[in-house]
Amino acid sequence: MRSDYCGRVGEADIDREITFCGWVHRRRDHGGVIFVDLRDHTGLVQIVFDPSRPEVFALAERLRSEYVLRVRGRLRRRPEGTANPELPTGQVELLAEALDVLNTAETPPFQLDEEEVGEEIRLKHRYIDLRRPVMQQRLRLRARAAACLRRFLEARGFIEIETPMLTRATPEGARDYVVPSRTHPGKFFALPQSPQLFKQLLMMGGFDRYYQIVRCFRDEDLRADRQPEFTQLDIEAAFIDEEGIMAIMEAMIAELFRETLGVDIALPVPRLGHAEALRRFGSDKPDLRIPLELVDLADVMRDVEFKVFSAPARDPRGRVAALRLPGGAALSRKEIDDYTAYVARFGAKGLAYIKCTEVARGRDGLQSPILKFLPDAAVTAILERTGAADGDIVFFGADRAEVVNDALGALRLKLGHDRGLVEPGWRLLWVTDFPMFEWDEKEKRYQALHHPFTAPAVADPEALRADPAGARSRAYDMVLNGVEIGGGSVRIHDPAMQQAVFDVLGIDAAAAEAKFGFLLRALRYGAPPHGGIAFGLDRLVMLLSGAQSIRDVIAFPKTQSAACPLTEAPAEIEPAQLRELGLALRRSPA
Ligand code: AMO
Ligand code: AMP
Repeated sequence: MRSDYCGRVGEADIDREITFCGWVHRRRDHGGVIFVDLRDHTGLVQIVFDPSRPEVFALAERLRSEYVLRVRGRLRRRPEGTANPELPTGQVELLAEALDVLNTAETPPFQLDEEEVGEEIRLKHRYIDLRRPVMQQRLRLRARAAACLRRFLEARGFIEIETPMLTRATPEGARDYVVPSRTHPGKFFALPQSPQLFKQLLMMGGFDRYYQIVRCFRDEDLRADRQPEFTQLDIEAAFIDEEGIMAIMEAMIAELFRETLGVDIALPVPRLGHAEALRRFGSDKPDLRIPLELVDLADVMRDVEFKVFSAPARDPRGRVAALRLPGGAALSRKEIDDYTAYVARFGAKGLAYIKCTEVARGRDGLQSPILKFLPDAAVTAILERTGAADGDIVFFGADRAEVVNDALGALRLKLGHDRGLVEPGWRLLWVTDFPMFEWDEKEKRYQALHHPFTAPAVADPEALRADPAGARSRAYDMVLNGVEIGGGSVRIHDPAMQQAVFDVLGIDAAAAEAKFGFLLRALRYGAPPHGGIAFGLDRLVMLLSGAQSIRDVIAFPKTQSAACPLTEAPAEIEPAQLRELGLALRRSPA
């Protein structure tokens, strides 16, 4: 239907006869001449309709935003003084000789170049939103990223294999989306939270190197980087250890950055132990672009009279830590109150601080509501360890270690962004040496920190049973600019070790057989050592494209409340369908 794309013509095409297809981006009437900016996915070109062709001109008078056109004419240089240097095609315009209106359009609910359009309305009319150049760029970048990852993996002997969507619950720690079975009344499929068990079975099936770009489903609380259905680049290999997997994956991510952004990532990617990450950054996915670090003070606070500090300092599960903000002594009372309210969201009961006006004058050079409770030795230790200088502020967190880590870890990020301290560039790291289990205080039992198929870094099942709390796992997460982009591990391939992990988790032999009998059996028929990883493709593309939310790199995402404004899913189903499935609703929907 067309000879050229709108955004691809230039001075070299002047005097050519050209046919464009596209949408009316803007129409301007200039007393007797009509200008239309015609848009396709490559960009805009200016079309001129003049009255010398009355039938074409009459048609052009009726054009509105988002009408779909086919226009033929001759490309010419724009008259002196009317060139638009902002536009790649700004030196030229098409003088229209023929016009087909391929379709009309109702007045769109928002203009494509409108700045602040509500997300709900964008998603409801996603087909219009997707016409925006920024959305075109993001989804095209996503396609290029996926193609690059596939090329990289194929070249290294990984093959793509599909795994079931209708399956059993896969334990990744979220709630399942379930699908009722018609043929087995009262029974349900679960949509996979990940292909974890299937990819392990593929290794046992002799496939050696697998990957899949695959949808995963998790019914969890949504955030900017979480969707109920999201895409993993899922990978598994046999006869390989953590070093082998990490080396291939680093090379893959480096190639992705080179190909999509032209950015060189330095290899090897640095590694940080889980405990050190929490100690220094209060987070297991630290954003290393922010040059602020937590400092421990429990040892000097054990005996101070200030109970807020001494109690957690003595508690083995407590933590007392400080975070220095250079230049922060200038913060106002109101700003400090706002930060106090901010850390309260993470459970902090307060946010003690010391402003350093003149450190050389000792106490007299400091300003703080807690100074009176602290002996000289504690004050000296604070100043020394944090490296506090004149003009700085030091914040404190004292509580259970998780609360201090969450609160000061979040404060560190917020201060970094608020104060413009985020350094440019890409800071990639591996987080390693995770604990195998974490104690769930509410349920009074251990939970797997990753999933229960992760190999513990212990000699044998007895060692694991003897000290579950102390066991590390052979897991690794990849973190980029404070976002967990991927995670994986070496897996258990020994049925006795798998049983030991289930034992620690309180899954007895009968329950293990009922839920994971197929895996336990497979482990007994010659399972090779294996391991793998899964990357969040949406998160990767979000970072590559500079988007703020993964919703902006998914063509048809769900809202925060896990619904689709476009199709209005989820929706009710017919009573007959319910009956057929053997289901009855306890309450009619409102
Ligand atoms: P994990 O649960 O860490 O590991 O998931 C792997 C990666 O998937 C991304 N991700 C998500 N992205 C968007 N929305 C979500 N709701 C969401 N949940 C996770 C993250 C995460 O790093 N089977 C294991 C992998 C393995 O061990 O090989 C797994 O699924 O970027
Ligand atoms: P209070 O004696 O409770 O008024 O607290 C004195 C100072 O300590 C205030 O600045 C509080 O914000 C701060 N504070 C209270 N509890 C904590 C805590 N758990 N961690 C850090 N600071 C706290």
